[in-house]
Amino acid sequence: MATSIPSISITFFLFASYQLVSLFLLFSLEKGYGLHDEKTRLNDYHTIQIRSLLPASVCNSSTNGHSKKATLKVVHKHGPCSHLSLDKANVPNVTQILSEDQSRVNLIHFRLSSDSAQNNILKSSKATLPVNSGASIGTSNFVVTVGLGTPKKDLTLVFDTGSDLTWTQCQPCLGSCYQQEEPIFNPNESTTYKNISCNSAECTQLTSDAGGVMKRCSNSSICIYGIGYADQSYSIGFFSKDTLTLTPTDVLPNFQFGCGQSNHGLFGGAAGLLGLGRNQLSVVSQTSSMYQKYFSYCLPSASSSTGHLTFGKGGPSSALKLNFTPFSRNSKNPSFYFVHITGIKVGGRKLSIAKSVFKNTTSIIDSGTVITRLPPAIYSALRTAFRRKMTNYPMTKGLPLLDTCYDLSNNKTVLIPKISFYFQGNVEVPIYPTGILFGHSISQVCLAFAGNSNASDVGVFGNNQQKTLEVAYDVAGGKLGLGTGGCS
Ligand SMILES: *[C@@H]1O[C@H](CO)[C@@H](O)[C@H](O)[C@H]1NC(C)=O
Ligand SMILES: *[C@@H]1O[C@H](CO)[C@@H](O)[C@H](O)[C@H]1NC(C)=O
Ligand SMILES: *[C@@H]1O[C@H](CO)[C@@H](O)[C@H](O)[C@H]1NC(C)=O
Ligand SMILES: *[C@@H]1O[C@H](CO)[C@@H](O)[C@H](O)[C@H]1NC(C)=O
Ligand SMILES: *[C@@H]1O[C@H](CO)[C@@H](O)[C@H](O)[C@H]1NC(C)=O
Ligand SMILES: *[C@@H]1O[C@H](CO)[C@@H](O)[C@H](O)[C@H]1NC(C)=O
Ligand SMILES: *[C@@H]1O[C@H](CO)[C@@H](O)[C@H](O)[C@H]1NC(C)=O
Ligand SMILES: *[C@@H]1O[C@H](CO)[C@@H](O)[C@H](O)[C@H]1NC(C)=O
Repeated sequence: MATSIPSISITFFLFASYQLVSLFLLFSLEKGYGLHDEKTRLNDYHTIQIRSLLPASVCNSSTNGHSKKATLKVVHKHGPCSHLSLDKANVPNVTQILSEDQSRVNLIHFRLSSDSAQNNILKSSKATLPVNSGASIGTSNFVVTVGLGTPKKDLTLVFDTGSDLTWTQCQPCLGSCYQQEEPIFNPNESTTYKNISCNSAECTQLTSDAGGVMKRCSNSSICIYGIGYADQSYSIGFFSKDTLTLTPTDVLPNFQFGCGQSNHGLFGGAAGLLGLGRNQLSVVSQTSSMYQKYFSYCLPSASSSTGHLTFGKGGPSSALKLNFTPFSRNSKNPSFYFVHITGIKVGGRKLSIAKSVFKNTTSIIDSGTVITRLPPAIYSALRTAFRRKMTNYPMTKGLPLLDTCYDLSNNKTVLIPKISFYFQGNVEVPIYPTGILFGHSISQVCLAFAGNSNASDVGVFGNNQQKTLEVAYDVAGGKLGLGTGGCS
């Protein structure tokens, strides 16, 4: 009884434009002031060592703050704390990271566009998968290691709040598997592995999912999923169940996941993806009776340190002061976590932008997008304010996406204006210094924010700006908690 994987053709959605610099100018009333004004103004600046902006080569893993709770260690895929050596041999450069980051944001915008709904369901034998960036999922992202099957096999997965389905490559790789660090999961070796049949309610979930997952039924009536990403990245295989082991005491039987038989992409040695989206297929939804749809994470400030991903309340975040902002309602895509940005402060002053401009803006918080995206008018005002406070440093040429770059090679320490974001509920979130500047060499360090090319596109609060924050997703409570000092 051979089961063949249906061929799902991936057609490419062409994104109109990579034009990133908006010409939309907004006249800010703000008056800049020099660094020399008053001593107290120093409170509005970070004094940073230049070398702290550059990648380190040694892992400085902290173990503090980890309680008995279901806590996993989060590491940067390419950093010295990651054991994915395959990936380390193939570290993308800044240009690649930024262009892959744009692919991911294009996908987010596509999924939120009106016609993307039609792509959820496999209507004909030929499906159109939206282009996403598997590459971006595989770039500059954070991974955790979980156990799958009985006896459990460790698998390192990219964690992603922007999608729901969890999948891993599976033997016998009927189609193809890309190279991964750990042995590829073999269902035969797990006594708890189960196929899901096509006419089951579990399989039906795939079609109602809005996260770009598609369903097919094989001849032998085994449920088949397909999920596509950009750059021809995809995973297609059996929708299955097995035991997921988060920690020795947190073992979840019958966890539904994709057992990928045909996988292609730049997942950089990771075994697959852990879906932490808001919709029903995600880990969050599947574990709701155990963790009440609550999880939190902290992304480390540098690739040489570690953060955490914790399921349930009472983890590291319980000891920190969190401020909560409501998730906004948005019916367009139930997988994403929508939040409302209400203001931005640069160097001690709020940008003077009409409230209505922020009001009209919907944004998501996303673990997989690197650079925060803002509507053109807001980005433009942020850039203007930032440049005014950085006049002591020579500007230099830009990078893809990033148009405000400085040559800091003459300075060992620099003063950069502090930046805070405000979320609905007057929640102020200070951005960590390495979340303000992004670069690969001290002669080209750039303001780490970008404008969307279309004012109606959703904003994205990206992972570069979430560093060291404790970010708590109280999905059941409909709110997002944000606090400082979640990790270092
Ligand atoms: C390692 O991390 C600790 C705590 O954050 C810090 O005090 C220490 O200086 C770090 N060591 C190195 C070598 O970076
Ligand atoms: C980055 O990598 C790409 C692909 O390998 C290469 O074409 C490009 O020249 C590199 N850019 C830099 C700045 O090294
Ligand atoms: C799993 O077991 C079946 C039946 O014994 C065998 O035909 C198949 O090749 C095995 N698959 C793998 C990936 O080991
Ligand atoms: C699951 O389905 C595949 C494909 O038909 C089959 O080879 C495998 O034996 C099945 N596994 C179980 C546990 O039923
Ligand atoms: C698929 O099902 C059809 C109709 O039941 C049958 O004729 C065909 O042989 C099956 N193909 C495979 C590969 O099992
Ligand atoms: C913003 O909202 C206001 C009031 O609802 C509306 O008049 C205006 O057209 C909106 N602007 C954009 C760019 O959507
Ligand atoms: C940074 O270096 C430039 C050029 O050497 C110098 O003019 C400037 O004063 C330095 N700035 C700081 C804050 O040290
Ligand atoms: C911006 O997006 C809106 C809604 O998706 C679309 O109607 C409009 O044509 C876009 N504008 C540009 C300049 O692409």
